[in-house]
Amino acid sequence: MDPILSTAQHAVLEIGCGHGHWLTAYATAHPATTCIGLDIISQRVAKSQLKATKRQLNNLHFIKAEAIEFIEILPPSVSFDWIMVLFPDPWPKKRHHRRRLIQPSFLDLIHPFMTPEGKLCFRTDDDPYFSWARDIIGNHPKWRMDEPTIWPFECETLFQAMMDHWQSLSAGIADGSQTDFSQVLRHPADNCKWCNAPDIPPRKT
Ligand SMILES: C[S@@+](CC[C@H](N)C(=O)[O-])C[C@H]1O[C@@H](n2cnc3c(N)ncnc32)[C@H](O)[C@@H]1O
Repeated sequence: MDPILSTAQHAVLEIGCGHGHWLTAYATAHPATTCIGLDIISQRVAKSQLKATKRQLNNLHFIKAEAIEFIEILPPSVSFDWIMVLFPDPWPKKRHHRRRLIQPSFLDLIHPFMTPEGKLCFRTDDDPYFSWARDIIGNHPKWRMDEPTIWPFECETLFQAMMDHWQSLSAGIADGSQTDFSQVLRHPADNCKWCNAPDIPPRKT
Protein backbone atom coordinates (compact mmCIF):
# COMPACT_ATOMS: atom_id res chain seq x y z
CA MET A 1 0.00 0.00 0.00
CA ASP A 2 2.98 2.33 0.50
CA PRO A 3 3.38 3.23 -3.21
CA ILE A 4 -0.30 4.15 -3.37
CA LEU A 5 -0.21 6.31 -0.29
CA SER A 6 3.00 8.05 -1.33
CA THR A 7 1.04 9.64 -4.20
CA ALA A 8 -2.07 10.28 -2.13
CA GLN A 9 -2.05 14.05 -1.86
CA HIS A 10 -5.12 15.93 -3.01
CA ALA A 11 -6.58 12.44 -3.28
CA VAL A 12 -10.17 11.20 -3.23
CA LEU A 13 -11.37 8.65 -0.69
CA GLU A 14 -14.67 6.83 -1.04
CA ILE A 15 -15.81 5.02 2.09
CA GLY A 16 -18.16 2.08 1.49
CA CYS A 17 -17.58 2.13 -2.27
CA GLY A 18 -19.77 -0.90 -2.93
CA HIS A 19 -19.29 -2.00 -6.54
CA GLY A 20 -17.12 1.01 -7.34
CA HIS A 21 -19.27 2.75 -9.95
CA TRP A 22 -18.89 6.28 -8.63
CA LEU A 23 -15.15 6.14 -8.00
CA THR A 24 -14.40 4.41 -11.29
CA ALA A 25 -16.20 7.17 -13.17
CA TYR A 26 -14.44 9.85 -11.12
CA ALA A 27 -11.00 8.28 -11.66
CA THR A 28 -11.66 7.99 -15.39
CA ALA A 29 -12.46 11.68 -15.59
CA HIS A 30 -9.53 12.67 -13.33
CA PRO A 31 -6.56 10.49 -14.38
CA ALA A 32 -4.05 12.57 -12.40
CA THR A 33 -5.91 12.15 -9.11
CA THR A 34 -5.22 9.24 -6.78
CA CYS A 35 -8.56 7.63 -5.94
CA ILE A 36 -8.96 5.14 -3.09
CA GLY A 37 -12.12 3.14 -2.48
CA LEU A 38 -12.73 1.19 0.72
CA ASP A 39 -15.23 -1.50 1.47
CA ILE A 40 -15.43 -4.26 4.04
CA ILE A 41 -16.95 -6.82 1.67
CA SER A 42 -14.29 -8.69 -0.32
CA GLN A 43 -16.55 -9.51 -3.25
CA ARG A 44 -17.46 -5.84 -3.75
CA VAL A 45 -13.82 -4.81 -3.60
CA ALA A 46 -12.91 -7.50 -6.13
CA LYS A 47 -15.66 -6.36 -8.53
CA SER A 48 -14.55 -2.76 -8.14
CA GLN A 49 -10.90 -3.60 -8.73
CA LEU A 50 -11.86 -5.48 -11.88
CA LYS A 51 -13.34 -2.26 -13.24
CA ALA A 52 -10.07 -0.43 -12.53
CA THR A 53 -7.98 -3.18 -14.11
CA LYS A 54 -10.15 -3.45 -17.23
CA ARG A 55 -9.93 0.28 -17.78
CA GLN A 56 -6.19 0.36 -16.96
CA LEU A 57 -6.78 3.07 -14.38
CA ASN A 58 -3.46 3.29 -12.55
CA ASN A 59 -4.81 6.09 -10.35
CA LEU A 60 -7.64 3.95 -8.94
CA HIS A 61 -7.23 1.58 -6.01
CA PHE A 62 -9.81 -0.46 -4.14
CA ILE A 63 -8.89 -1.81 -0.74
CA LYS A 64 -10.72 -4.20 1.55
CA ALA A 65 -10.60 -2.32 4.80
CA GLU A 66 -12.76 -1.05 7.59
CA ALA A 67 -12.84 2.72 7.21
CA ILE A 68 -11.86 3.77 10.74
CA GLU A 69 -9.06 1.21 10.95
CA PHE A 70 -7.73 2.33 7.56
CA ILE A 71 -7.75 6.04 8.39
CA GLU A 72 -6.21 5.46 11.81
CA ILE A 73 -3.04 4.10 10.22
CA LEU A 74 -2.69 6.61 7.37
CA PRO A 75 0.66 8.38 7.19
CA PRO A 76 0.37 12.11 7.92
CA SER A 77 1.49 13.01 4.38
CA VAL A 78 -1.83 11.77 2.95
CA SER A 79 -4.37 14.46 2.12
CA PHE A 80 -7.83 14.37 0.62
CA ASP A 81 -9.68 16.92 -1.47
CA TRP A 82 -12.82 14.83 -1.25
CA ILE A 83 -14.05 12.17 1.13
CA MET A 84 -17.22 10.61 -0.25
CA VAL A 85 -19.77 8.69 1.80
CA LEU A 86 -22.55 7.56 -0.54
CA PHE A 87 -25.54 5.68 0.81
CA PRO A 88 -23.84 4.38 3.96
CA ASP A 89 -25.60 1.80 6.11
CA PRO A 90 -28.21 3.84 8.04
CA TRP A 91 -28.46 1.62 11.12
CA PRO A 92 -32.07 2.74 11.74
CA LYS A 93 -32.59 1.17 15.18
CA LYS A 94 -31.76 3.53 18.01
CA ARG A 95 -29.57 1.01 19.77
CA HIS A 96 -27.49 0.73 16.59
CA HIS A 97 -26.99 4.45 16.02
CA ARG A 98 -23.51 4.22 17.54
CA ARG A 99 -22.56 2.07 14.51
CA ARG A 100 -23.26 4.88 12.08
CA LEU A 101 -20.15 6.16 10.34
CA ILE A 102 -20.90 9.83 10.92
CA GLN A 103 -19.92 10.50 14.53
CA PRO A 104 -17.97 13.33 16.18
CA SER A 105 -15.02 10.93 16.58
CA PHE A 106 -15.06 10.21 12.83
CA LEU A 107 -14.97 13.94 12.06
CA ASP A 108 -12.02 14.33 14.46
CA LEU A 109 -10.25 11.43 12.77
CA ILE A 110 -10.51 12.66 9.18
CA HIS A 111 -9.96 16.36 9.94
CA PRO A 112 -6.11 16.25 9.82
CA PHE A 113 -6.18 14.51 6.45
CA MET A 114 -8.26 17.14 4.65
CA THR A 115 -6.62 19.70 2.36
CA PRO A 116 -7.55 23.27 3.33
CA GLU A 117 -10.27 23.27 0.68
CA GLY A 118 -11.16 19.57 1.23
CA LYS A 119 -14.77 18.43 1.49
CA LEU A 120 -16.67 15.63 3.15
CA CYS A 121 -19.65 14.72 0.96
CA PHE A 122 -22.50 12.62 2.32
CA ARG A 123 -25.57 11.29 0.54
CA THR A 124 -28.36 9.10 1.89
CA ASP A 125 -31.92 8.08 1.16
CA ASP A 126 -32.54 7.69 4.90
CA ASP A 127 -34.05 10.93 6.20
CA PRO A 128 -33.31 10.28 9.91
CA TYR A 129 -29.66 9.53 9.08
CA PHE A 130 -29.48 12.70 7.01
CA SER A 131 -30.73 14.78 9.95
CA TRP A 132 -28.29 12.98 12.25
CA ALA A 133 -25.35 13.72 9.93
CA ARG A 134 -26.38 17.36 9.49
CA ASP A 135 -26.63 17.85 13.26
CA ILE A 136 -23.36 16.14 14.07
CA ILE A 137 -21.38 17.89 11.34
CA GLY A 138 -23.11 21.23 11.90
CA ASN A 139 -22.33 21.16 15.62
CA HIS A 140 -18.73 20.02 15.28
CA PRO A 141 -16.28 22.85 16.04
CA LYS A 142 -13.74 21.72 13.43
CA TRP A 143 -16.22 21.51 10.54
CA ARG A 144 -18.41 23.95 8.65
CA MET A 145 -21.44 22.86 6.63
CA ASP A 146 -21.54 24.18 3.06
CA GLU A 147 -24.55 26.19 2.16
CA PRO A 148 -25.32 25.38 -0.59
CA THR A 149 -24.01 21.83 -0.89
CA ILE A 150 -20.93 21.33 -3.04
CA TRP A 151 -20.62 18.12 -5.02
CA PRO A 152 -17.63 17.16 -7.15
CA PHE A 153 -19.07 14.74 -9.65
CA GLU A 154 -22.21 12.76 -10.40
CA CYS A 155 -22.39 9.09 -11.27
CA GLU A 156 -25.21 6.92 -10.08
CA THR A 157 -24.20 4.27 -7.55
CA LEU A 158 -25.83 0.86 -7.30
CA PHE A 159 -27.83 1.93 -4.26
CA GLN A 160 -28.73 5.31 -5.71
CA ALA A 161 -30.31 3.52 -8.68
CA MET A 162 -32.67 1.74 -6.30
CA MET A 163 -33.79 4.84 -4.41
CA ASP A 164 -36.54 7.25 -5.36
CA HIS A 165 -35.12 10.06 -3.27
CA TRP A 166 -31.99 11.06 -1.43
CA GLN A 167 -30.41 14.05 0.24
CA SER A 168 -26.84 15.31 0.05
CA LEU A 169 -24.67 17.55 2.17
CA SER A 170 -21.09 18.70 2.08
CA ALA A 171 -18.81 20.24 4.66
CA GLY A 172 -15.32 21.67 4.82
CA ILE A 173 -12.94 22.11 7.71
CA ALA A 174 -13.74 25.18 9.78
CA ASP A 175 -10.25 26.63 9.43
CA GLY A 176 -9.95 25.75 5.73
CA SER A 177 -10.14 27.93 2.67
CA GLN A 178 -13.32 28.87 0.88
CA THR A 179 -13.19 27.56 -2.66
CA ASP A 180 -14.85 29.60 -5.33
CA PHE A 181 -17.19 27.06 -6.86
CA SER A 182 -18.50 29.23 -9.61
CA GLN A 183 -20.07 26.48 -11.67
CA VAL A 184 -23.08 24.47 -10.73
CA LEU A 185 -24.06 20.80 -10.73
CA ARG A 186 -26.78 19.65 -13.00
CA HIS A 187 -30.00 18.25 -11.63
CA PRO A 188 -29.71 14.68 -10.24
CA ALA A 189 -31.81 13.53 -13.18
CA ASP A 190 -28.77 14.23 -15.32
CA ASN A 191 -26.79 11.53 -13.49
CA CYS A 192 -24.97 9.21 -15.78
CA LYS A 193 -25.87 5.56 -15.72
CA TRP A 194 -23.00 3.29 -14.78
CA CYS A 195 -20.16 5.62 -15.36
CA ASN A 196 -18.10 7.26 -18.10
CA ALA A 197 -19.72 10.40 -16.83
CA PRO A 198 -18.55 13.76 -17.97
CA ASP A 199 -17.32 15.80 -15.04
CA ILE A 200 -20.26 17.70 -13.70
CA PRO A 201 -19.09 20.69 -11.72
CA PRO A 202 -20.57 21.59 -8.35
CA ARG A 203 -23.77 23.54 -8.30
CA LYS A 204 -25.60 25.75 -5.93
CA THR A 205 -28.78 23.85 -5.04
C1 LIG B 1 -25.51 0.56 1.46
S1 LIG B 1 -24.00 0.12 0.74
C2 LIG B 1 -23.68 1.46 -0.42
C3 LIG B 1 -22.63 1.10 -1.43
C4 LIG B 1 -22.34 2.21 -2.45
N1 LIG B 1 -21.80 3.40 -1.82
C5 LIG B 1 -23.58 2.56 -3.26
O1 LIG B 1 -24.10 3.67 -3.09
O2 LIG B 1 -24.00 1.72 -4.07
C6 LIG B 1 -22.84 0.50 2.03
C7 LIG B 1 -21.46 -0.07 1.77
O3 LIG B 1 -20.59 0.33 2.82
C8 LIG B 1 -19.77 -0.76 3.18
N2 LIG B 1 -19.34 -0.51 4.56
C9 LIG B 1 -20.11 -0.56 5.66
N3 LIG B 1 -19.41 -0.23 6.75
C10 LIG B 1 -18.14 0.01 6.32
C11 LIG B 1 -16.94 0.37 6.98
N4 LIG B 1 -16.92 0.55 8.30
N5 LIG B 1 -15.82 0.54 6.25
C12 LIG B 1 -15.84 0.36 4.91
N6 LIG B 1 -16.96 0.01 4.23
C13 LIG B 1 -18.09 -0.16 4.92
C14 LIG B 1 -20.66 -1.97 2.99
O4 LIG B 1 -19.95 -3.16 2.82
C15 LIG B 1 -21.44 -1.59 1.74
O5 LIG B 1 -20.80 -2.03 0.55
